[in-house]
Amino acid sequence: MPEAPATSPEQDLELLRSTAVGAGIIASGYFRRNLKTWTKENASPVSEADIVLDKFLHSSLLAARPHYGWLSEESVDDLERLKHDRVFVVDPIDGTRGFIRGEDSWTVSVAVVEHGVPVAGVVYAPARDELYDASIGGGARLNGKPIVRVAQPGRSAVIPAPGAVHQELQDAGLNYTRGPYYPSLAYRLVQVATGKLDAVVARRGSQDWDIAGAAIILAEAGIGFEDVCVGKPRFNMTDVRHGALAALSDESLKPVVHKALRRIYGCPAETEITADLERRTQ
Ligand code: IPD
Ligand code: CA
Ligand code: CA
Repeated sequence: MPEAPATSPEQDLELLRSTAVGAGIIASGYFRRNLKTWTKENASPVSEADIVLDKFLHSSLLAARPHYGWLSEESVDDLERLKHDRVFVVDPIDGTRGFIRGEDSWTVSVAVVEHGVPVAGVVYAPARDELYDASIGGGARLNGKPIVRVAQPGRSAVIPAPGAVHQELQDAGLNYTRGPYYPSLAYRLVQVATGKLDAVVARRGSQDWDIAGAAIILAEAGIGFEDVCVGKPRFNMTDVRHGALAALSDESLKPVVHKALRRIYGCPAETEITADLERRTQ
């Protein structure tokens, strides 16, 4: 088979954008309607809209780039993706809990990952009419305009977090305000780029699809986003789960936030991390 022509991250981003918008239109047809829902083995909720979107995204994206690999929350992962240089990483609906409740901050989160690094990504909140996007070296945008973080001098940091993390941060004496806990992690993360939030944390166990789209948007907006155990998250590894993560608007928050997350969630043994890296490079 002749090798497929190489496409640029900007071309991939264009494809992600148009496909995410199509997915948003389909999802909107299910939003705030009578919806079939059920619970997965891991106790997380899912709806018929998640499945319909997964099929739409799979057929649209792979029709355009048949030589890319595929990883989605709603598709069985046969690890075939590990043979591909570029992989679509997709969360058809992030924030399904909110989607089912009729809250409007759910997102379609899609990315292209190349050799473990997101190179193009979209986080789209159709019910809020907010489309965040970025490609590597090409900057980050909200609805087509460069994202400029609006600093609010004198305001204490706004941080949403699970209760246990709040407890640790308070015990450490951090001066901050509790922020809104949007049900979509991808949506929460990109709010550090806009300046609505100052730090966003994720429990240990987030998976590639939860964070790949937001990761490139944060990187291009100049926001530090790290796994508190291993540093910069790597994608399309055998194990797609991550340690606890933090996106921080300000490096001065790092010591206290990272320490709190490590205390609560711990870190995988060094041997587990090395074994996964070795599997990926074989
Ligand atoms: C979940 C949401 C949630 C995060 C969970 C994710 P889903 O994704 O992003 O905010 O805390 O870890 O699994 O199930 O709505 O796609
Ligand atoms: Ca998710
Ligand atoms: Ca999902």
